[in-house]
Amino acid sequence: KGKVPFRVYEDSKLVSLAVASEIADLVRQRAAEGKHCVLGLATGSTPVNVYAELVRLHKEEGLSLANVVTFNLDEYFPMQPDCLQSYVRFMNEHLFDLVDIPKENINIPDGTLDVEQVADWCRNYEAKIESLGGIDIQLLGIGRTGHIGFNEPGSGTESQTRLITLDRLTRIDAASDFFGIENVPRRAITMGVGTILKARKILLLAFGENKARVIRSSIEGEMTPTIPATFLQQHPDTEFVLDQAAAAELG
Ligand code: F6R
Repeated sequence: KGKVPFRVYEDSKLVSLAVASEIADLVRQRAAEGKHCVLGLATGSTPVNVYAELVRLHKEEGLSLANVVTFNLDEYFPMQPDCLQSYVRFMNEHLFDLVDIPKENINIPDGTLDVEQVADWCRNYEAKIESLGGIDIQLLGIGRTGHIGFNEPGSGTESQTRLITLDRLTRIDAASDFFGIENVPRRAITMGVGTILKARKILLLAFGENKARVIRSSIEGEMTPTIPATFLQQHPDTEFVLDQAAAAELG
């Protein structure tokens, strides 16, 4: 009764190796054609080993990422890039400082903007994605609220890059990173569900028993803004790539 294709691996490490190799294949194929490859990237604990494997492929197997352009899904707002919890810092530490993606090819929502600048900035982000031909592969994690990016419950299929108020459950899940929920920003800039659905291929990764329930709802439930990840059911080329614990409640 699944409404989205999914693959289950024995553990998260195997998921990460498979996904990194799929990304590397497309990057190489595009390079051979003299073309760039546009990746939509996620942060958080889920993609860490995908990035680690891309770094390994770069350092040990000669994979060049010089033709890669990246657009990250989201960033807390406000957020300074050098802050411990910044997604800019996360991406630099896990990927960008360790591979050969040209710095000018890297795009991440800007947590340093004045609030009145945000709407224009978000429109430009959308326009820049379009001008580069759209996202080839979008990597996603999923929050326990059913968020993709930071599209919390209530986000519709037409939503675009914008400022959003984080759900309380999302702030609870981030509390340990911020040494207390009171330090977790109340808002974030995120690509919209509509932005994500425009990607040519979407790979949603989920690991661990904490994700099992939301994975079941996302794959088997009705499409609803209450669980924004259910909207992936309407995308022509989405795959969920799961470890056994995250797949445990699938029927
Ligand atoms: C992060 C993002 C979020 C996370 C989700 C899961 O850029 O867009 O949707 O993917 O909150 O986070 P982890 O992987 O830490 O469980």
